[in-house]
Amino acid sequence: MDRTQIGINGLDEALNGGIPKGNIVLIAGGAGTGKSTLAMQFLVNGAEKFKEKGLYITTEQKKEDLEKQAAQYGWNLPALQKAGRLAIFYLDTLVEKNHIPVLEEVIEKVSPQRIVIDSMTTLTDNLAITDFKDTTGFSMVQVMDNVVPTPLSEKLITKNVLYNLINMLKTKYQATVFLTSELYEDSKGLSADGVSEFICDGVVVLKALDIGDTLSRIIQVRKMRYTRLDGGVKNYDINQNGISIIQ
Ligand SMILES: Nc1ncnc2c1ncn2[C@@H]1O[C@H](COP(=O)(O)OP(=O)(O)O)[C@@H](O)[C@H]1O
Ligand SMILES: [Mg+2]
Repeated sequence: MDRTQIGINGLDEALNGGIPKGNIVLIAGGAGTGKSTLAMQFLVNGAEKFKEKGLYITTEQKKEDLEKQAAQYGWNLPALQKAGRLAIFYLDTLVEKNHIPVLEEVIEKVSPQRIVIDSMTTLTDNLAITDFKDTTGFSMVQVMDNVVPTPLSEKLITKNVLYNLINMLKTKYQATVFLTSELYEDSKGLSADGVSEFICDGVVVLKALDIGDTLSRIIQVRKMRYTRLDGGVKNYDINQNGISIIQ
């Protein structure tokens, strides 16, 4: 099986050599756990070490913010963009309502082997219903109201939008995809929306734990289709080189 290497020692090994090519992987974690860092590193390594083109779709940080953050890890995003090995696309989810067609267009244009959507949480929060409406031609809520007087749950709408998005990514492109998701501390599931962990091919969870006076960071691959997992929890560090696994 073709695998997409993340390029982080200890993490690719835990995945039996990397992520099965074309898998859609949820990167779930609380604020500041390093989701964006990991996503960037995945694309930077792809471009520099594996000659694969990356597309970073950002809904939270503007392009300049990302470039500034990357520079702190020694990654030159403007140079990679100039060389045609990376593209950054800012999607304003408050202004732009037709997320899926817009994303389809940009993916088509860039034709990347690696895609990041950071974050999925912003995308599903703002506003799932329009996307659902756009892909079907009418709103399911309206239909449901006509049939049964029960409003469709937010979760079901989110699930449908996610299915549409993932289906689009899977059927049209062979790219390996990272979707970041906010994970709240009291959360029982593995994502903010409560459904993407079931739809995605893989889930990587990042956590920051306070142990005494020190902050301990742990990473665990919770799910990866077509891959035997060791299931272990690993410690990681974020430093001037980005994320590294403490072996
Ligand atoms: N140069 C650095 N050295 C060590 N830690 C850093 C450095 N730059 C950023 N960080 C840490 O990385 C975290 C930010 O990671 P980020 O990828 O933005 O998280 P998330 O996307 O999950 O919110 C911060 O919590 C900060 O502590
Ligand atoms: Mg982030």
